[in-house]
Amino acid sequence: MMTMRTVSYTRMDEGTVEDYALGEEIAKPFMNATPDRILAFMECLHDTFPGGRIDRYAHSLQTATRAEDAGECEEFVVAALLHDIGDSLAPHNHADVGADILRPYVSRHTHWMLKHHGIFQGYYYWDKIGKNRYERERYRDHPAYEMTVRFTGRYDQMAFDPGYETRPIEHFEPMLRRIFARVPWGAQTKEDWPVVDRAGP
Ligand SMILES: [Fe+2]
Ligand SMILES: [Fe+2]
Repeated sequence: MMTMRTVSYTRMDEGTVEDYALGEEIAKPFMNATPDRILAFMECLHDTFPGGRIDRYAHSLQTATRAEDAGECEEFVVAALLHDIGDSLAPHNHADVGADILRPYVSRHTHWMLKHHGIFQGYYYWDKIGKNRYERERYRDHPAYEMTVRFTGRYDQMAFDPGYETRPIEHFEPMLRRIFARVPWGAQTKEDWPVVDRAGP
């Protein structure tokens, strides 16, 4: 039986340089399998927010399909696919979850769009639940404002239609894998967010 190599420390401040090098090496296959875990977790969206004409899983596929049909770039399409992935574990702040899962792999504007999509989506129904549908107007000067209006207006809020020809997850899987294969950036990685966006708004 193969025994798993382990680090020597029982508290982090006592770990050696060799320990942390070993830890990183052992973690590699796990890190590389992130897209597999994302795809597996997507299945939870079948059981999220009941009562729609289609479930959140189908809604996510349809949002991505609509974005692709309109000619959006791959990063945008993958963002559309994952925009509601937080619905299952964080129904009150789901937008933050999807945004932060993708954050190390996408531009600041794509991250911003995902993070704020709930407020922008509010424009299409908040007046019916006693809230201010114009809440998004306070972001009017943000460089990703138009992009987020486009995302919610043309794709997200439209994607509850059982009749729309929606492509399956297998179609989007290679795109998702390409985005997660990018060199990540952010506080927990070796690269910081660049000043200039990788992809524009
Ligand atoms: Fe959402
Ligand atoms: Fe959505």
